[in-house]
Amino acid sequence: MDRRSSRRWRFLSLFLTALHLNPSLCSAAATKVSPRTYIIHMAKSEMPGSFSHHREWYASTVRSITVASSSTKLEAEDPARRILYSYETAFHGFAARLSEAEAEQLESSGIPGVVSVLPETVYELHTTRSPEFLGIGPDVSSSVWSSVLADHDAVVGVLDTGIWPESPSFSDKGMGPVPARWKGACEVGRDFKRSCCNRKIVGARIFYRGYEASAGSINGTSEFKSPRDQDGHGTHTAATVAGAAVPGADLFGYARGTARGMAPRARVAAYKVCWTGGCFSSDILAAVDRAVADGVDVLSISLGGGVSSYYRDSLSVAAFGAMEMGVFVACSAGNGGPDPISLTNVSPWITTVAASTMDRDFPATVELGGGANSTGVSLYRGRRNLSAQRQYPVVYMGGNSSGPDPRSLCLEGTLDPQAVAGKIVLCDRGISPRVQKGQVVKDAGGVGMILANTAANGEELVADSHLLPAVAVGEAAGEVIKRYAKSAPHPTATLTFQGTKVGIRPSPVVAAFSSRGPNFLTLEILKPDVVAPGVNILAAWSGAASPSSLATDRRRVGFNILSGTSMSCPHVGGVAALIKAAHPEWSPAAVKSALMTTAYVHDNTFRPLTDAATGGPSTPYDHGAGHIRPLKALDPGLVYDITPDDYFEFLCTQKLSPLQLKVFTKSSNRTCRHTLASAGDLNYPAISAVFTEQPASALSLHRTVTNVGPPASTYRVKVTPFKGADVIVEPKALHFTSQKQRLTYRVSFRTKSPQSAPEFGALTWTDGVHSVRSAVVLTWLPPL
Ligand SMILES: *[C@@H]1O[C@H](CO)[C@@H](O)[C@H](O)[C@H]1NC(C)=O
Ligand SMILES: *[C@@H]1O[C@H](CO)[C@@H](O)[C@H](O)[C@H]1NC(C)=O
Ligand SMILES: *[C@@H]1O[C@H](CO)[C@@H](O)[C@H](O)[C@H]1NC(C)=O
Ligand SMILES: *[C@@H]1O[C@H](CO)[C@@H](O)[C@H](O)[C@H]1NC(C)=O
Ligand SMILES: *[C@@H]1O[C@H](CO)[C@@H](O)[C@H](O)[C@H]1NC(C)=O
Repeated sequence: MDRRSSRRWRFLSLFLTALHLNPSLCSAAATKVSPRTYIIHMAKSEMPGSFSHHREWYASTVRSITVASSSTKLEAEDPARRILYSYETAFHGFAARLSEAEAEQLESSGIPGVVSVLPETVYELHTTRSPEFLGIGPDVSSSVWSSVLADHDAVVGVLDTGIWPESPSFSDKGMGPVPARWKGACEVGRDFKRSCCNRKIVGARIFYRGYEASAGSINGTSEFKSPRDQDGHGTHTAATVAGAAVPGADLFGYARGTARGMAPRARVAAYKVCWTGGCFSSDILAAVDRAVADGVDVLSISLGGGVSSYYRDSLSVAAFGAMEMGVFVACSAGNGGPDPISLTNVSPWITTVAASTMDRDFPATVELGGGANSTGVSLYRGRRNLSAQRQYPVVYMGGNSSGPDPRSLCLEGTLDPQAVAGKIVLCDRGISPRVQKGQVVKDAGGVGMILANTAANGEELVADSHLLPAVAVGEAAGEVIKRYAKSAPHPTATLTFQGTKVGIRPSPVVAAFSSRGPNFLTLEILKPDVVAPGVNILAAWSGAASPSSLATDRRRVGFNILSGTSMSCPHVGGVAALIKAAHPEWSPAAVKSALMTTAYVHDNTFRPLTDAATGGPSTPYDHGAGHIRPLKALDPGLVYDITPDDYFEFLCTQKLSPLQLKVFTKSSNRTCRHTLASAGDLNYPAISAVFTEQPASALSLHRTVTNVGPPASTYRVKVTPFKGADVIVEPKALHFTSQKQRLTYRVSFRTKSPQSAPEFGALTWTDGVHSVRSAVVLTWLPPL
């Protein structure tokens, strides 16, 4: 680590309460099994003329090392058969089974064309697994779209767990023929016929070679080895992107209303990359590669994990290739919050989506025998209602708050039926899935459950479709009830359920689980990019999975309510499809700019967006540019455009070796022209100024805006004041005379008094109609 990066690390470490990074950053399991799958990036431009096809070249490359390497069982095998995939569109290279020695040899022996050799990594889906739920209904951002549902024809590729084609959300009623340019396919398999695809589901493919090579064969009896969704997650995300309107959708009566995706007339293509044992990078790469070749306009990818560098993270590299081909890529930010520096998918060419609440909730009440009431949430609906007129004994099996007690968590096998039968049991959140705790209480004879947050979740409430009457309460209410249960001679309570309530204030609120900045790879690129609804989202569900995802839960539902950045990402994917449809010529960066500069940062009480984790205001490290505002994003006035060349120049500022850069150049002979003075000069729609000089002095950044509004317009700038620096924008007005005209401005920061914490603000260009807002962050790196 050089001096510069060590100061950056010391700045980042200010955000870490303890030095624990999000575990998903470390999920590359370092199992030393031999052989394993490696992804080999190849520079196609270096293919010797003696090969007529790159696949021959790849096979020959594998052969050249297997011959030389020491005895492995694989040696006798045909090298071509050891190649799982050859990648061609978004990415150049192949995935192959290699021993560790072979991989080392391939990487180190200077074989022409070999750029990098990366071991397979496992990515995870970004739902808060034990289902966290939330409701839709007349969701503002979907109903707003009815006016522009004309005849656009965008295809959104969804990389996920597959799709449940019978869901009414995927009805193609009234949709025109599939556009001729579409080259996707409907792969058939178990319980998935060609007729499962239609004018809504225009593609369905599966990618499992990497998974099977590492995790073993998929059991075709217990798991659909076809695009059919076993899990529900992929059906939910695909329906959130582009589900047709389904009136009267609900989950057990909760959140009843018309369910529909953000772009209800768009098409979806399901790329199944996740299996019961996880989502493997070689399969994800193959799916992005294929989706780009198939002709998707947008990719919505609700998964992440893996590796913390631009060139080693397969999803980052594949997304770069997709972006080059004009495909907009939305990815979930991760559910590692509220820990700082917990983001995944931070590459600037990806749109990184955080999660927030909507104005809808599912209130439920704990009425204590002592007369006090606590309000919580629940999606319980069933025949085991407790009587509101009666009180039931209540018990907390936890210790005297002097350390963790497995009984307080209601883990499996910890509850004594004699102690809990006929009672309402208070269980602490954590370790095991929330709905499973209810199952444990039910199995032990309990009649109800109060699920209490601990400090890890604070006051953020998630509603679940519990198997017995249960109410989730915040940490403060949980403490009150625990004290009562411990001190009263005969503590009692009852639980009541109020159904669905709308108009919740404040909303939106940034979800506590939503991953947080700052961006650990490049401080100059503010991440996440935007926040979108990701709490208690109602959308279509798989007929093969229960709403709680518990195997013991025999219930089946057409719609389910889930929470996670997995749910917020497809909202952005769907809205991007609408923007693409309205402006087919816009680049992925222009679409992202429109989403970011029109986002709002105030809730429905007109106060700054709050953070569920603290109850205080959130910052751009939590919400990025703010909450998406789809209708405004269609007409942003100005956009900050970025070409593939610009993104490549950004990489040139990131100290990648020439070989590492080749991962991104592929067959082009792009080289660094050093057009960017620093990473902060990338034409990003947010501004992050990082003072590295000691003593901190001045810093200038440049931006170029493209007029996508009326030809003749004049924009004037406003900048919020900062304690630590004076800000000067030159020029102060931009006079446009034509559409697509580009004008450049410079923003200069002069340090007044360096601040130890980052300072947040905004820079806004307005023409009286449009307001083009960029979040601004100033950071002074600590002295050495
Ligand atoms: C596949 O799954 C079925 C159903 O769960 C099970 O009965 C069978 O033993 C499994 N087969 C293998 C080879 O594991
Ligand atoms: C608690 O709630 C019940 C029913 O909602 C109500 O009748 C009662 O008055 C409340 N008690 C207090 C102390 O607010
Ligand atoms: C249970 O409570 C809910 C909400 O109050 C109510 O709608 C439902 O009818 C009740 N069910 C029974 C069986 O009492
Ligand atoms: C809590 O502490 C009290 C007094 O020290 C003790 O009598 C009681 O058994 C403790 N409860 C539990 C569950 O350990
Ligand atoms: C490589 O560079 C040369 C000269 O700069 C140019 O003529 C050629 O088109 C480039 N090739 C590719 C594939 O970009």
